[in-house]
Amino acid sequence: MGKKVTVVGAGFYGSTTAQRLAEYDIFDTVVITDIVDGKPEGLALDINQSRPIEGFETLVVGKTTGADGAGYEVIAGSDVVVITAGLPRKPGMSRMDLLETNAKIVRQVSEQVARHAPDAVVIVVSNPLDEMTAMAQLATGFPRNRVLGQAGMLDTARFSHFVAEALSVPVGTVRTLTLGSHGDTMVPVPSRSTVNGKPLREVMPAEQIEELVVRTRNGGAEVVALLKTGSAYYAPSAAAARMARAVAQDSGEVMPVCAWVDGDYGISGVYLGVEAELGAQGVRRIVQTELDADELTALKAAAEAVRAKQGDVADL
Ligand code: NAI
Ligand code: 2OP
Repeated sequence: MGKKVTVVGAGFYGSTTAQRLAEYDIFDTVVITDIVDGKPEGLALDINQSRPIEGFETLVVGKTTGADGAGYEVIAGSDVVVITAGLPRKPGMSRMDLLETNAKIVRQVSEQVARHAPDAVVIVVSNPLDEMTAMAQLATGFPRNRVLGQAGMLDTARFSHFVAEALSVPVGTVRTLTLGSHGDTMVPVPSRSTVNGKPLREVMPAEQIEELVVRTRNGGAEVVALLKTGSAYYAPSAAAARMARAVAQDSGEVMPVCAWVDGDYGISGVYLGVEAELGAQGVRRIVQTELDADELTALKAAAEAVRAKQGDVADL
C-alpha cells in the first residue's frame, strides 16, 4: 500500500512542509489539517494544481478540524504525522514564551493522533521544541522511539550555510553538526565539522568559528527579527520533510534529531538533540559520536536544562 503522511497545522511551516512532501512524489497522500476553516482545503487545492507543472502524482487532502476532534478521521492510516500546530515567536520572544499556549495545542493534537493514527511515527516541530516533543510522547502514549522532534537538522543546516558562506566554498563541501537543545543550550560541534574533508579548525580561525557558533545558536531569532512577524519556514520545512521521508522509506539515514536519550553520553531519561538512525519505527538507535570534553560538558548541561522543563509539561 502507498504511503500516507499528515501535516497538522497549515501555517507557514505546515504548508511548506506539505508542499515539499508532495513534490518528493513518494507518498500516495499528503494530508494537511488546521483549525482555521477552509485554510487546509484551500492550500491543498492550490498545491494539487501545481501537479501538472511540477510533475508529481501525490494527492494533497486538506481538512479543517474542530476543537472536539471532528475531521481527524482523515489522518487514519498515516505512516508519519508532522505536528506544526502552535504559535510562532514574535520579535523579542524566546521559544520558551510559547510553552503554555503551545503545550495545550500539542496535547490536544497528540490525543487525536493517538486515536486516529495509532501506528504513526510523530515528528514534532512546534516550539519550544524539546518540551513539545516530550509533551507529544506523553499525550500520545506512543513508544518513545516513535515520537521525535525536528531541530538538529535545521540548526546543523544553518551552521553549514554560515561556514560555506564565510569561506566562499560550495555548501556541499561542508559538514557540520549541532546537538543539544533547540534553544540557549544548543551545542554546535566544531570538532565534528569539516570542509572538503579537512577539520573546520584547520581552515577557519577559532574566533571566527565561535562567531558562527553564536550566530547558529541565534539562527531562529535572526530570521524572526528580520521578518518582524512569524518565524522561519523554508529551512525548517526542508528539515522536517527529510525526516518524514527517511521514516516513510525506512532509509536508515543518520540525522541530528530530538530523540529520547537513555544512557548514551552518560545522559538518561530526556528528549535531547543527538544523532539518530531513522527508520519505519522512528528512531532505530542513537548514534553516539566522539566529542571534545567541553562539547560533552555542554551537551550534559543542555540535558539538565531541558530535563527540568520537560518534567513540567505533564502539568500543562
Ligand atoms: P503559523 O502561525 O504560520 O502556523 C501555525 C498554524 O497552527 C496556524 O495555521 C494555526 O491555525 C494552527 N493551529 C493552531 N492550533 C491548532 C490546533 N489545535 N490544531 C491544528 N492547527 C492548529 O506558524 P508557523 O510558522 O507555521 O510555525 C509553527 C510552529 O513551528 C511554531 O510553534 C514555531 O515556533 C515552530 N517552529 C519550529 C521550528 C523548529 O526548528 N522546530 C522552526 C520554525 C518554527
Ligand atoms: C527557528 O529556529 C523559530 O525555532 C524556530 O527558526
